[in-house]
Amino acid sequence: MTNQDRVKELIELRAQAKLGGGEKRIESQHKKGKYTARERIAMLLDEDSFEEFDMFITHRCYNFGMEKTKFLGDGVVTGQGTIDGRLVFVFAQDFTVFGGALSEMLAQKICKVMDKAMTVGAPIIGLNDSGGARIQEGVNSLAGYAEIFERNILASGVIPQISAIFGPCAGGAVYSPALTDFILMTDQSSYMFVTGPKVVKTVTGEDITTEELGGAEVHSTKSGVSHFLAENEEEGIAIIRDLLSYLPSNNLEETPMIACSDPIDRLEDKLNSLIPDNPNHPYNMMEVIEAIVDHGKFLEVHKRYARNIIVGFCRMGGRSVGVIANQPSFYAGVLDIEASRKAARFVRFCDCFNIPVLTLVDVPGFLPGRVQEYGGIITHGAKLMFAYGEATVPKVTITLRKSYGGAHDVMSCKQLRGDFNYAWPTAQIAVMGAKGAIEVLYGKELAAFTDPEEKAKFVAEKEDEYNTAFANPYKAASYGYIDDIIEPRNTRFRIIRAFQSLQTKRVTNPMKKHSNIPL
Ligand code: HXC
Repeated sequence: MTNQDRVKELIELRAQAKLGGGEKRIESQHKKGKYTARERIAMLLDEDSFEEFDMFITHRCYNFGMEKTKFLGDGVVTGQGTIDGRLVFVFAQDFTVFGGALSEMLAQKICKVMDKAMTVGAPIIGLNDSGGARIQEGVNSLAGYAEIFERNILASGVIPQISAIFGPCAGGAVYSPALTDFILMTDQSSYMFVTGPKVVKTVTGEDITTEELGGAEVHSTKSGVSHFLAENEEEGIAIIRDLLSYLPSNNLEETPMIACSDPIDRLEDKLNSLIPDNPNHPYNMMEVIEAIVDHGKFLEVHKRYARNIIVGFCRMGGRSVGVIANQPSFYAGVLDIEASRKAARFVRFCDCFNIPVLTLVDVPGFLPGRVQEYGGIITHGAKLMFAYGEATVPKVTITLRKSYGGAHDVMSCKQLRGDFNYAWPTAQIAVMGAKGAIEVLYGKELAAFTDPEEKAKFVAEKEDEYNTAFANPYKAASYGYIDDIIEPRNTRFRIIRAFQSLQTKRVTNPMKKHSNIPL
């Protein structure tokens, strides 16, 4: 063989590897409306930036005649590239090779890119589309999964980890994405579950479809497993690219700063009249967010899950900020189990990656009742409290309207090391709303009334007295719990200036192995 032949051989082998499981299976993938692993990577990364690793790896399994069927690359495409010029590492399971099922060598490839990402401090993105453990490899496949899981765990809080689910993801395989920071699923073409419909039928007798059990809709609205729901793969890829633009590459980096053409002192007059006079009337918190962030651009996370609280990323004055905001137009913005868990995880993510936290408060309290208590609202509410209290990133809190009881403390109050706590003049910071307070304070007197009109008059008087004393921000401001009461239209500027002054904030928590958040 001449040296020229050797070069030719390399080119041919590369071409063969790029075909994965072959033309027929690629065609079948396309027929399902899905892209191949390489097509997905090409869409995700900057043009021509992809460098592939381990293209020549094959499995080394001899069970069930497997030695006769080998594909170069063995079911996953891995490598490095850039997104908006920033280095990332990526793996994309190749469904055309044994259904992307995970072999010992496939796991080794994924571990290698994860290790590289950790070594240099760059995000890792996994594009999942796999039949799970490669059945022919038995326990070697399970060991391969565990190697990946351990790396997911050690990378947590060090580099951003993002998972897209573009096809099946079942059995223990779900746990690698679940250990990452964000999961994105595509509508109607992806699913995640620990056991599939057939096992469900055998064990519980329940008839349920794949989509009903673990489709993107279910995980985006009911379980909260998925943070983003994309209509198709193109949209999914665009969301991942957008998401990364808000994140630093690792926990030691500052968040990306981009030039901001939106004036930082932009006044939003409409905010001065946004809060309805009737405290029981809702308004849409999204209007506030869109009015104050750079160019009105907000990437909402968990958009369709626990809608009584909003979380997501924006830029303010060009720098990334994580926003947590009660949503009065959904269940009055009450804190329940799901909202507490959603917000707690988001605050912790921001804290891991030096993303300043903005909290917009309008919360009537924790949702009362048996369902919440039996479900452990105490523990879940404590998660959010814990997340805020341990966070050392800059924290700016604006109280727009209600801030009652335990929920007041939880939502980034001053004593949980809130750095700047501002209130609008419409804020009501108190132990509870007037109605509840009067019932508790004057229970005996109310029971003694025989004339309903007299009673109503008494209640109105007492409520008025209570509201004058407590349903305002001045009481809290008089104790220094609120740093300033600001004009709503000037909110954007006040937040940006606060974050600017906090840029050099350095706070550390006591030394410990790790904290014990109420899980
Ligand atoms: C080996 C597999 C495979 C697997 C699919 N294939 N899953 N090979 N191990 N787990 C192969 C098929 O033999 C086929 O090969 C090709 O991939 C495509 O599969 P199809 O069945 O033709 O595709 P489709 O009809 O789209 O169905 C996809 C599927 C189905 C729903 C994923 O393949 C399936 O149910 N697979 C088994 C899923 C499963 O039970 N996995 C184990 C889960 S338990 P050819 O040569 O025909 O192209 C688990 C434990 C992990 O994962 C534990 C971690 C801790």
